[in-house]
Amino acid sequence: MAVDVLLGLQWGDEGKGKIVDYLAPSYQCVARFQGGPNAGHTLVINGKKTVLHTIPSGIFHDDISNLIGNGVVIDPSTLMKEIATLEAIDLEWKSKLLIAQKAHLILPTHKVLDAASEAAKGKAKIGSTLKGIGPTYMDKTGRNGLRIGDVHLSGFKEKYEALKAKHLRLLKQYPDFEFSLEEEEAKWWEGIEGLKSIPVVDSAYYLGGLLAEGKNILAEGAQGSMLDIDFGTYPFVTSSNTTTSSACKGLGIPPSAIGEVIGITKAYCTRVGSGPFPTELFDDTGEELRKVGKEFGATTGRPRRCGWIDIPQLNYAIMINGVTQLVITKIDVMDSFDEVQAGVKYKYNGSSTAQLPFDMEGVEIEIEHQVFKGWKQALNSISNYQDLPGEAKEYLSFLEDTLKTPVKFVSTGPDRKDLIIR
Ligand code: GDP
Ligand code: IMO
Ligand code: MG
Repeated sequence: MAVDVLLGLQWGDEGKGKIVDYLAPSYQCVARFQGGPNAGHTLVINGKKTVLHTIPSGIFHDDISNLIGNGVVIDPSTLMKEIATLEAIDLEWKSKLLIAQKAHLILPTHKVLDAASEAAKGKAKIGSTLKGIGPTYMDKTGRNGLRIGDVHLSGFKEKYEALKAKHLRLLKQYPDFEFSLEEEEAKWWEGIEGLKSIPVVDSAYYLGGLLAEGKNILAEGAQGSMLDIDFGTYPFVTSSNTTTSSACKGLGIPPSAIGEVIGITKAYCTRVGSGPFPTELFDDTGEELRKVGKEFGATTGRPRRCGWIDIPQLNYAIMINGVTQLVITKIDVMDSFDEVQAGVKYKYNGSSTAQLPFDMEGVEIEIEHQVFKGWKQALNSISNYQDLPGEAKEYLSFLEDTLKTPVKFVSTGPDRKDLIIR
C-alpha cells in the first residue's frame, strides 16, 4: 500500500509517458498531480503512437483508474480533443477516467493572457507552450480560479463571465496585442458539456480510500525537476511544483504514503523553450542528438535543444526529489557515437563545484566533461542488461555510481517493448 511517484529529473520530455504506461499494470490507479496540457507524454504501443496531454498514461490498461488530480489545470477543449483521439483508435476510456473536483479550469482568456504576456517579454520570453498554464495557476493562488466542481453548481456561467471580465481588464495592459475569443469560447463551452459526463471525485477521499484498502497508486509527474517553480531555473520554469512533494498537494495524499520515487533521465539532456542549459551543444553532435532522438516537442513541435547529460544537475534533482530508483531512457540515440560525454563539474566565479549556482542564466558556467567510449552497436533488440555491450554498461555503471542511485530500467527505443528491466 503506497503511492510511488514517477517524475522527470531534467527539463521535461524524459520519456515519462512510456514508463508510466509500462509500469501501470502494477498499480490500481495512475494519477497526474500537476501541470496541464503543456505536457506531452508519448506512448508507442506495437508501433502505434499516442500523445497524452492531460489524461494519465495508464489509460491503455484495463482495470486501472486514471485520475486527473486536483493539482492539474484542465482546458476542457483540449481534453475533449484528447478524448477524441482515443475514441478514434477505439480505446475505451469512459470506465477508466476520473477528474478531481478541485482541479482548476483553464479559460480561453488564460491562454490569451499567456500569449500577451509572452509577446510583451520580447527576447526575455520564457518560451511557454501558451496553453494558459501560468495565468491559471496565478488565478488559483490569487483565489480567483474556477474549479471542475463549479461546473456542476448553479451560477457557473456568471462566475465564468466575472473572471473573463477581469481578464479582459488585464488585457488592456497589452493594447497592441490582438486576439479574438469567439471560436475558442465556443469550443470551451462544448468541452464543458463534455466534461459533465466524466465522473468527478474528491481526490483526497478517493485516493485515501484506495490506500485504506491496501491498493497501490502511481503518481505521474509532468514537466521536469528543473522546470519546478521553486527549485528550477527560475524564471525559465513552469508555474507548478514538479517535484515529489507536489504529489502530496496535487492529490491530497500524506507524505508518509509515498513509497518509491522513480526518477527518469535521458542518457543525454534536452530542453525546449528559453533558459539556461549548461551542457547544451551547438555543434554537429547536438544536431545529431536532435535528429536521431527526434527531439521535437510533443506538444508544440518546437525543436528541442540538446546536450550531454549533466551530473551536477541530476544530483541536485535526485536530492530534492528523494529519488530511490533511476530510469535511463533514449540510450539508443547514441548508438553510433564514437564517444559519449557527461558534464561532471561546473566551474563559475573562479571555482570548480558540483553545486548549481543561484542564477544559472547570469553566470558564465564552464563544464568539465568525462569522456566514454561509444558502443557503436544497436541496443534496441537487447532485452537483458548482461547482454549490453561493455561500453554501454560502463556508461550506465558510471551514472549509477556518480548518482548514487540504482538504475532499474534502461529504455532502448520508443515502443513499450523496448525496455531492459534490471
Ligand atoms: P515525456 O513528456 O517525458 O512523456 O516524454 P515525451 O513523450 O515528450 O518525449 C519522449 C520522446 O522520446 C517520445 O517521442 C518518445 O516516443 C521517445 N522515447 C521514449 N523513450 C525512448 C527511448 O528509449 N529511445 C528512443 N529512441 N525514443 C524514446
Ligand atoms: P512534459 O510533461 C518540456 C516548458 C516550456 C517553457 C516552460 C514554461 O511533456 O515533460 P509553460 O507552458 O508551462 O508556461 O512553459 O516550460 N515546458 C515543458 N518542456 N516538457 C514539458 O512537459 C513541458 N511543459 C512546459 O517549453 O520553457
Ligand atoms: Mg513531453
